[in-house]
Amino acid sequence: MRAQSELQPELLVDNIGKTFESAAGSVKAIDRIDISAKAGEFISVLGPSGCGKTTLLRMIGGLERPTQGDVSIGGHSVWKSRGDKTAGEAVRSLAFAFQDSRLFPWFSIEDNIALPLRLRGEPKDKRLARARELCALVGLQGFEKAQPRQLSGGMRQRVSLARALAIDPRLVLLDEPFGALDAMTRDQMNLELQRICKATGATVLLITHSIAEAVFLGDKVVVLSPRPSHVHAVHEVHLPRPRTIAMQETPEFQNLVRAIRSDIAGYPA
Ligand SMILES: Nc1ncnc2c1ncn2[C@@H]1O[C@H](COP(=O)(O)OP(=O)(O)OP(=O)(O)O)[C@@H](O)[C@H]1O
Ligand SMILES: [Mg+2]
Repeated sequence: MRAQSELQPELLVDNIGKTFESAAGSVKAIDRIDISAKAGEFISVLGPSGCGKTTLLRMIGGLERPTQGDVSIGGHSVWKSRGDKTAGEAVRSLAFAFQDSRLFPWFSIEDNIALPLRLRGEPKDKRLARARELCALVGLQGFEKAQPRQLSGGMRQRVSLARALAIDPRLVLLDEPFGALDAMTRDQMNLELQRICKATGATVLLITHSIAEAVFLGDKVVVLSPRPSHVHAVHEVHLPRPRTIAMQETPEFQNLVRAIRSDIAGYPA
């Protein structure tokens, strides 16, 4: 018999929906979304602008209350048990990174990375040791004392990723983290992210507008419909790991990209 923890998904987005109410009227952003991820799985999410991807991430992360459904992380409900200890447990173990790196300009790189640990009250020597380890993990050795303005866009995104990993999250939520980068830097960051995911074993949910990036990184690609969104299609990616940039030229990769592109072309008018 397998242990219960192996059967239970690490992330379960269960029938979640969101309607925003304001003085100007109501906006149904998400009709209904179900997603499930096993521990260590990498889920890519694609969808048109405004379909509710950021809202979905915020509901998973405990930042935006859903109007229907719930999320559980490691079996702990994020919303049903809001306010009790188990809800705290669910969101304690996750980390966010966004399209803009959101670094504090007046903090050094290591202080930016160590910030979540400072907020948790970790002692200074321990958090700086961890920040240095993470600098090495994301390939930024030697930049520990630099200021964010001395770094390139790609390097700043690495800092943002390192900061997200500082708390050893079991779930990492990435909202178009590489959207602002040029194609070559983005390929490089995708390789780095793949390596980091393997090293940490975290479960990852990545929002992206790039079909190639979704396929390159994902074990599964979830395609959302236009607003009010639902899951339009799910594609399993069976390409071997570690994936290489050259794999993007293979028929398997290109067939998947084509299938996803045709899903998107098939949205209801
Ligand atoms: N706080 C809010 N109040 C009212 N409406 C909102 C709020 N946040 C988002 N919305 C609306 O919900 C819908 C989904 O927004 P969201 O930011 O989640 O989309 P998205 O898929 O992340 O878009 P993009 O790809 O452009 O980042 C949009 O129509 C947006 O206007
Ligand atoms: Mg968004």
